[in-house]
Amino acid sequence: MKSIGARLAINYVLASTITFAALFIIGRYFVERHAINALDLVIQTEFEEIRADAARLGPSPSEAALRQSVQAMAINSFEQFLTEIYGPDGTVIYRAPGLQGLNVTPPAGLKQFNVTLPNLGELRAGTFSLDSYTVVVATSKRDVRVVMSGYARTFYGLLVVMIAVSSVIGYWFSRMALRPLQSIQDTANRIRSDNLGERIPVSGAKDEISDLARLLNQMFDRLEASFDQIRRFTAEASHELKTPLTLVRLQAEKLIVDGELTVAQEQAVQVQIKELSHLHRIIEDLLFLSRADACAIRLDLQPQDPEALLQSFALDAHVLAEYREQHFHLYHHGKGTVPIESKWIRQVLLNLLSNALAASAPGSKVTVRSTLANQCWLVRIEDQGPGVPVEQRERIFERFVRINRPGDETSGSGLGLAICRSIVQLHGGRIFAEAGPDGRGLAMVFELPADTPAMAVAPRAVTAPHPHLDAT
Ligand SMILES: Nc1ncnc2c1ncn2[C@@H]1O[C@H](COP(=O)(O)OP(=O)(O)O)[C@@H](O)[C@H]1O
Ligand SMILES: [Mg+2]
Repeated sequence: MKSIGARLAINYVLASTITFAALFIIGRYFVERHAINALDLVIQTEFEEIRADAARLGPSPSEAALRQSVQAMAINSFEQFLTEIYGPDGTVIYRAPGLQGLNVTPPAGLKQFNVTLPNLGELRAGTFSLDSYTVVVATSKRDVRVVMSGYARTFYGLLVVMIAVSSVIGYWFSRMALRPLQSIQDTANRIRSDNLGERIPVSGAKDEISDLARLLNQMFDRLEASFDQIRRFTAEASHELKTPLTLVRLQAEKLIVDGELTVAQEQAVQVQIKELSHLHRIIEDLLFLSRADACAIRLDLQPQDPEALLQSFALDAHVLAEYREQHFHLYHHGKGTVPIESKWIRQVLLNLLSNALAASAPGSKVTVRSTLANQCWLVRIEDQGPGVPVEQRERIFERFVRINRPGDETSGSGLGLAICRSIVQLHGGRIFAEAGPDGRGLAMVFELPADTPAMAVAPRAVTAPHPHLDAT
C-alpha cells in the first residue's frame, strides 16, 4: 500500500480489533466460569435441602423412605433438578423420571462434572454423600448457554461499532501524525533551484519530524551554497574563456589581413579560425545549458500568433535549404496564440532545420508542419534523410551524443538537441523524435501549450513573401 496514512489507520484498526477480541476471549472464560459456579451453588443448595429432608427421617434412613422424600421434593422443584441416588452397593435406588432411565454415572473422584445425555443435552452435576448413599444432583446447562450466546451476540455488535469508530479515530490519528510530513513535502516540492532560499518550517518540539525538517534544511543550505558556486563559476568561466578566445581569433584574422603569410600558412590560419569559432559556439551552448540547469534563464513569454514567426523563419530556411541544394516546405493551420519568447523558439526551429538539412542528401525535401488546435501548438520537422534507429531516438537529446555516419563531415558538437529540449521544456512543452512519414527519414516533433479557439479551423497554407515558400 502506497500511503503511510492508510497503513497507520489500518494498523490502528487491527490493533484495536485484536485487543478487543482478546478481551472477549478472556471475558468469556470468566463469565462462563462465574455462571457455572452459580450453577454449582444452586446444586449444592438443592442437595442441602435433600439432606435436611433426610435428616427428618432419622439416622440411617431406609432406601424406600429416602426415595419417597426425594420424590416429594422433585415435585416441588419443577423438574429443574434431576436427582439420582446410589445405594452403598452402587445400585440405583432412585432416578428422577426426567432422566428418562438414563444413567448420569458420576466419574470417580470428581465432585462437580459435566455430562451430556441424549435428549437432555449438556448437564452440570454434583456428587454428594448422604450417610452410606451417594446422591447425584444434575441440572441443565441451558441457561449458561443462553447467557454465553447473548454475550457473543453483544460482542459481535460491539465489534462492528468498534471497527467503525476505530477506523474514524485511526484516520484522524494518521492525518494528525502525518500533518508535519505533509508540510515538509509541500515545502520540499516548492523548493527548486530558482527559490533555493525557502526553508521547511521547523516546530519548537524536539521530535523525529522536526529533526528531519532540520536535517533537510541543512541539506538545502548545502545545495544552495553549491548552486551559488556553480552560478558564479558559470559566469566567471564565460568571461575567462570567451575573452581570450576572441583575442586569439582577432590575432589570427589580423595575420590574414596583413597578407604576409605564405599560402600554406594562410590555410593553416583559416583552419584555426574555423576551429576557434566552433569552440566559441560550444562554449556558448554549454553556458546556455548550465544556466538553464540552474534555472537562471528567465523567459519573457508573450502570447504570439506563431504564423508570423514561421513566416520569418521560412525566409531563412529557404536560403539555408537552397545553399544545400534542398527544398523547404512549410504548412501551417489553426488559429490562436502561443506564450513564447520568439528568439528561443526560432533557435529551436533553426537547430532542427540545420540537423535535417545536414542529414539529407541534395535534392531532398525538408517539411515543417505546424498545427494549432486543442490548446496545443504542434510542430513537425520532417526530412528525407537516413533517420535515427528507434533505440537511439531518445539518446540523441543527451549532451554530446552524435551518431556519426560514414561520409558525415558536419562539425556539430552534439549539443543542439539538448539545447532544443531545454528551451522547449522552459516553455512548458516537450520534444521528441519519431520516424518520418512512410517510415522514411526523421520527424522531430515539439508541442507547446497554446491558447486556441474552441472551434477547429480548416487547414490552410502560409502565404509567404518568399518565392520558394509552398502554397497549397
Ligand atoms: N534529422 C536528423 N536525421 C538524422 N539524424 C539526426 C537528425 N537530427 C539529429 N540527428 C542525430 O542526432 C545527433 C545529435 O544532434 P545535435 O544534438 O543537434 O548535435 P549535432 O547536430 O551537433 O551533431 C546528430 O549528431 C545526429 O546524429
Ligand atoms: Mg545539431
